Amino acid sequence: MPLEIASTVSELREACDLARHAGQRVAFVPTMGALHEGHLALVREAQRRAPFVVVSIFVNPTQFGPGEDFARYPRGLDDDVRKLAPLGDVRVFAPSTQEIYRPDEQTRVRVGALAEALCGRFRPGHFEGVATVVAKLFAVVGPCDALFGRKDYQQLLIVRRMARDLLFPVTVVDHPTVRELDGLALSSRNAYLSPDERERARSIVVGLDAAARLFARGERQACELERAAREPLQAAGLLVEYVELRDADTLAETGPVMGARGALAVACRVGKTRLIDNVVLGEDAPPLAPRAS
Ligand code: PAF
Repeated sequence: MPLEIASTVSELREACDLARHAGQRVAFVPTMGALHEGHLALVREAQRRAPFVVVSIFVNPTQFGPGEDFARYPRGLDDDVRKLAPLGDVRVFAPSTQEIYRPDEQTRVRVGALAEALCGRFRPGHFEGVATVVAKLFAVVGPCDALFGRKDYQQLLIVRRMARDLLFPVTVVDHPTVRELDGLALSSRNAYLSPDERERARSIVVGLDAAARLFARGERQACELERAAREPLQAAGLLVEYVELRDADTLAETGPVMGARGALAVACRVGKTRLIDNVVLGEDAPPLAPRAS
């Protein structure tokens, strides 16, 4: 059966209203398209939780800064629909920019301290764009569950906080980062990498893995854990924006000695491509540890 694709707010809202009135749980996976196995894993998890699943495909202009990759961000609705089709019953929401952002609107959603750390310092306005579009999408879909990948750990915490503060009746569910066989975190932006850059990008997970193993052996000094994660990036010639150990719930600085849990987050540039990844020490296994199949 072909997937149903809604392109207007009213079409999708009506379909979601009907599902809820029929007593169905609604689960939601927001995406910007260029779907990969990480997105498909979120959709499968959504289908496990609810009979009615919505996947939005919308490259959100307000979360890109001047000079960022909005114009060249990979777009291909047909390809995305082809990838979703084997998963079965999924509603796709693929609105135009005008459908989501009216020309005369005046409202933006801004989350406080959580959005100021880490990527917030390097991408001013980015999380305001994310929080705004996710709030709008929540208002259209009215999901019971919304699924987000842990690769974008700061985004996950911000969306969870936004939903809580604005009283959206939704459970924000996080899903483990999906990785390539060699450990690189899946990202739509990996498509930008040349073969040489792809090879060097692997140093990101090598560094996080080294830090996670050091943590498992008892190291709690923030600077040692950060050093272990940073060294492979520098050896591979990547431009490091940050390698920082932060409180896993608030993203506040941990101080020199961390407690039982902490988010070790990395952002760097491989050529022109900005990549991020993280490991939550005290919670996640080292990312290169053999995975249970
Ligand atoms: O993670 C993404 O793909 C985007 O930031 C999101 C959550 C779909 C909002 O545009």
